[in-house]
Amino acid sequence: MPSAAQPLIYMNNAATSWPKPPEVLAAITASLSLPVFGSGRTTGSQGEDYISLARERLAGFFTVDRPEHIAFTQNATDSLNILIQGFLAGRENGCHVLTTTLDHNSVLRPLHEYEAQHRIRLDILPFEGCLVHPEAVEAAIGPETRLMVMTHGSNVLGSVQDIRAIGEILHDHGI
Ligand SMILES: Cc1ncc(COP(=O)(O)O)c(C=O)c1O
Repeated sequence: MPSAAQPLIYMNNAATSWPKPPEVLAAITASLSLPVFGSGRTTGSQGEDYISLARERLAGFFTVDRPEHIAFTQNATDSLNILIQGFLAGRENGCHVLTTTLDHNSVLRPLHEYEAQHRIRLDILPFEGCLVHPEAVEAAIGPETRLMVMTHGSNVLGSVQDIRAIGEILHDHGI
């Protein structure tokens, strides 16, 4: 157990996890005292449009041209399911998808489910020395490859993938 002498240093705070940093607790507590903007209720239609403000700040951080294209979701698992299932809708038959053994269950489980239902063909690329090598990605690409889902920075190993080189290879193949 953590103690004053040995405080807990927890490195997974981006996910649905505990403990939350004090700044997150303060922001959530403050947000609960605001009226729900644009809810259409008599008690909630006034106030600041903080959702649009949040979109604009995130768009600045991620250099997104159109803040209104940012969608808020429950968590990373929800986001990944929306992305994966949304992308595959209508493209499934014969579609080949790549991911890696470094990826989280929130990526692997929906892809395994599609594979089990014979809706896609899936290849899960290994990593060597903490890295997924761009050459291995290129070698795995086939004529039916449409999608690759992979982690950029691993919160398990700390390794950061050469996402630029991998992205260029994928884009060269129209993936
Ligand atoms: C790498 C990675 N991706 C996705 C998730 C899922 O995140 P969430 O709990 O926000 O759904 C986690 C959770 O720990 C994770 O470690």
